[in-house]
Amino acid sequence: MVDSVLNQEWMKKTQQWVKEQQVPDTSAKLYDLQELLRFHEKAYYVRNKPLITDAEFDLLFNLLKKAEEAHPDWITPDSPTQRVGNSLNEGFATVSHLVPMLSLENSYDAADLTDWDRKVRELGKTDSASYCVEPKFDGASISIIYENDRLVRSATRGDGVEGDDITMNSRQIKNLPLYAPFSRWGIQTIEIRGEVLMTKNAFNSFNIQLQEKGLQVLANPRNAAAGTLRMKDPAEVGKRKLEAFLYHVSEVSLFPEGLQKADEILPLPDTHFGMLQMLWEAGFRSPVAEAKTFPHIKDVIDWCTSFETGRDELPYEIDGMVIKVNLLALHDRLGMTTHHPRWAIAYKFKARQATTRLHSVEFQVGRTGAVTPVAKLDPVSIGGVTVSSISIHNEEYIREKDLMLGDTVTIERAGDVIPQIVRTLPELRDGSQSPILFPKHCPVCESDLFKEEEEAVWRCVNVECKAQVVERMAHFVSKDALDIKSFGEQQIKKFYESGILKDIPGIYQIDYNLLKNLEGFGKKSIDNLQSAIEASKKQPLHRLIYGLGIRHVGETTAKALAQRIEHLLDLRLLTIDQLMEMEDIGPKVANSITGFFSNEQNLEMLQHLENLGLNLLREKSEQISDGKLKGRSFLFTGTLTQFKRSDAEAMVEKAGGQILGGVSSKLHYLVVGTDAGSKLEKARKIPTIRILTEQEFLNVIAYDQEN
Ligand code: IVH
Repeated sequence: MVDSVLNQEWMKKTQQWVKEQQVPDTSAKLYDLQELLRFHEKAYYVRNKPLITDAEFDLLFNLLKKAEEAHPDWITPDSPTQRVGNSLNEGFATVSHLVPMLSLENSYDAADLTDWDRKVRELGKTDSASYCVEPKFDGASISIIYENDRLVRSATRGDGVEGDDITMNSRQIKNLPLYAPFSRWGIQTIEIRGEVLMTKNAFNSFNIQLQEKGLQVLANPRNAAAGTLRMKDPAEVGKRKLEAFLYHVSEVSLFPEGLQKADEILPLPDTHFGMLQMLWEAGFRSPVAEAKTFPHIKDVIDWCTSFETGRDELPYEIDGMVIKVNLLALHDRLGMTTHHPRWAIAYKFKARQATTRLHSVEFQVGRTGAVTPVAKLDPVSIGGVTVSSISIHNEEYIREKDLMLGDTVTIERAGDVIPQIVRTLPELRDGSQSPILFPKHCPVCESDLFKEEEEAVWRCVNVECKAQVVERMAHFVSKDALDIKSFGEQQIKKFYESGILKDIPGIYQIDYNLLKNLEGFGKKSIDNLQSAIEASKKQPLHRLIYGLGIRHVGETTAKALAQRIEHLLDLRLLTIDQLMEMEDIGPKVANSITGFFSNEQNLEMLQHLENLGLNLLREKSEQISDGKLKGRSFLFTGTLTQFKRSDAEAMVEKAGGQILGGVSSKLHYLVVGTDAGSKLEKARKIPTIRILTEQEFLNVIAYDQEN
């Protein structure tokens, strides 16, 4: 209730600033605007409930920037404009923590926790101790100091006594406030502990980006967070979407008496849960929503077990729970060992890492000829899933990870993150290990392999290579392409080897009589296959474009291309510049498209497909269905955090809306994620375009579905 009244006041102020669009001309107005921006930063990054559109935020931010440009002496280090550092880290200075950063004692089962509870009550001289239970975040730990309400320093854990000063980089973490009003509690200096994380989504898309650039992928979100915190360039840190979760106050010193009016000071919390609430109120992402208190260890145990079951549902990685005595007075009584506090214990979940032997490497050839080494492992179970092979990406990765045949390796499978080799254990080598030799020739067709200068991937030069042909056909029939059900890679391989099928057009010329002689093909399965192949001729154009497997053309690009043309062969006519005017098409993608459409063989194949009855036309009926969004067009830009772009586009299309390839007066809605760039700027200049946040988009869709 109080919150909603406050929110309304902030919103009134917001509307006024947005309406007037006046650059602040006094320092008082400028500080008002700073405060307003901080409020909205908190709503967006900490509360995850934005109250204004990104465009409105940008407008306010630019007003502040302009005022600060005109009056540099008004700039304060906690201004929302001051996150972006413009200098590089010159190594990291070593700094001492105010209080040593201890570790936690570990427990693994109910018996360990019951035992710990007994010790707590004995040493704490109490019959009952209430406990606060919260997630054990699996990231990089961090210690941050605020002085006079401003972030002044942050450091890595280091050896627990001293760490690296990473202040510049931590200022890039958007949900970490540069200003936090601790003086409300009479606090002059405070040291806070927490964990810096990369969410699973952010990590997976980050790894995809690395892979596309031919760079080494990272083993897990923890390594990604820790590595990012130690980067030289703070601006790069800003792009990587780190989040900080703050869970512990290690040191507080108050203002000297008399500096503040006593009746204006809020009392300091006397419980750990109260501290989490204080941090939340001061603008931090503390685990106040996830934390729960219990008077009995039995309930703590039940909670920990049920949390473990739901672990994969969380957007971030956790490796256990942390149980803390809730009453702070008891912390003092219990004290600590040199290693850990006695008032807290970690309850560790089942490991997602396992150790196994890398016995061989298989080199697989993909549809673009890329040769990918796949490590074959002695099967090992991690979190209920048996892993026996893992991609080891490329030659460079093998070298950097120092992998050898016969090595013992640690592998990790974290929730929905693809399994990775974390490290090899060279100390266990017994002389039987041998180097992994990358082939010089294609393992399937013996042709030469080549590697482009800036790429890490070796490719087979022979476009007729059996592996490439089979993989291209398998991609063509796959679920997101022509979606020919019950026609998988294995069947395609079989058909290819028995001479029934030799290329993509061949799919539509299969002699079904020949299938009868193949093992496993009865009349029913032949009929099913025939009707699935027949039905695929009517698939919408964008699926066909995607199915062609043009390098760098994913589903989104395929959809954008299909919107841009009337007939598939029109793509021949688009120049690199015209292609680059489209959303998300850069020089690499544009070159690949023009390359594909300037190849005579490819054009002949497309003509052949059309002659065989495939739909190469953009059909009006495909784009605009009878849904409630009929006649309305959408475009998504920036990094979307609440949903996948492809899912959102599918939602729009399902409701009859249309996805456009670029910003023009034909566009009705531009949905903006974070880091939106030129599309947003262009859209702002066209008054008929409505700019939506992701949440607003969901509202539009929901409204649409209800009505
Ligand atoms: S409390 C003095 N709470 O786990 C006690 N630690 O394995 C301070 N960690 O070094 C730690 N989530 O980096 C605490 N909710 C949480 C935590 C947490 C993750 C990390 C922390 C600590 C490590 C011990």
